[in-house]
Amino acid sequence: MPSARRKAYMKIAYMVGSLSSTSLNRGLAKALVSLAPEGVEFIDLDIGSLPLYNRDYDGNWPEVATAFKKAVDEADGVVIITPEHNRMYSAAVANAVEWSSRPWGTASLAGKPVALAGVSPSPVATGIAQTHLRGPLAFFGSKLYPHEAYVNAQQAGITPEGGVAEGSRDFLAQFIGGFVDFVKASE
Ligand code: FNR
Repeated sequence: MPSARRKAYMKIAYMVGSLSSTSLNRGLAKALVSLAPEGVEFIDLDIGSLPLYNRDYDGNWPEVATAFKKAVDEADGVVIITPEHNRMYSAAVANAVEWSSRPWGTASLAGKPVALAGVSPSPVATGIAQTHLRGPLAFFGSKLYPHEAYVNAQQAGITPEGGVAEGSRDFLAQFIGGFVDFVKASE
């Protein structure tokens, strides 16, 4: 008789909203992946490869966009790591969110556990960007992880290579570990 089987591992997809080659947010992503509990496969959504969405693509998607949407659909949870650009999340994040929301009626973030995180050199910046991002996620009906990671680059010692100051390791490990538990509880 078939029984409800628990998946052996979990897939968490993540996107980094800065495309800079020296991105601190990319560094934060590396840090979160390295501090996550065992048994989680992390998938880099590589949103920098996506063309700028416009509806002329509907019905004729480029392969990169199809692969992106499939990866989001297949993920058990998604982490969006965004910088603040002019008090907003980055255009790269906005574009990826647009692709994920199409075709109409198939929003990939609908009902999906989503965590937001980010790092910025200024004290509050990523927090403002993340607050804006809660709007579209509420619209989709994503399961928003309630914990916040507004990381100050200097304080937390974040480097583009994924370095973290000793004093911030526990916080980040708890953040990502808590999200893994949140995803499990959402299954
Ligand atoms: C910024 N940045 C920025 N910072 C800030 O404190 N106030 C601001 O208004 C802005 N505006 C802004 C606009 C644009 C278009 C860019 C590219 C950058 C700086 C930005 O917050 C900072 O570079 C990133 O958060 C660092 O992340 P990455 O790119 O290193 O991952």
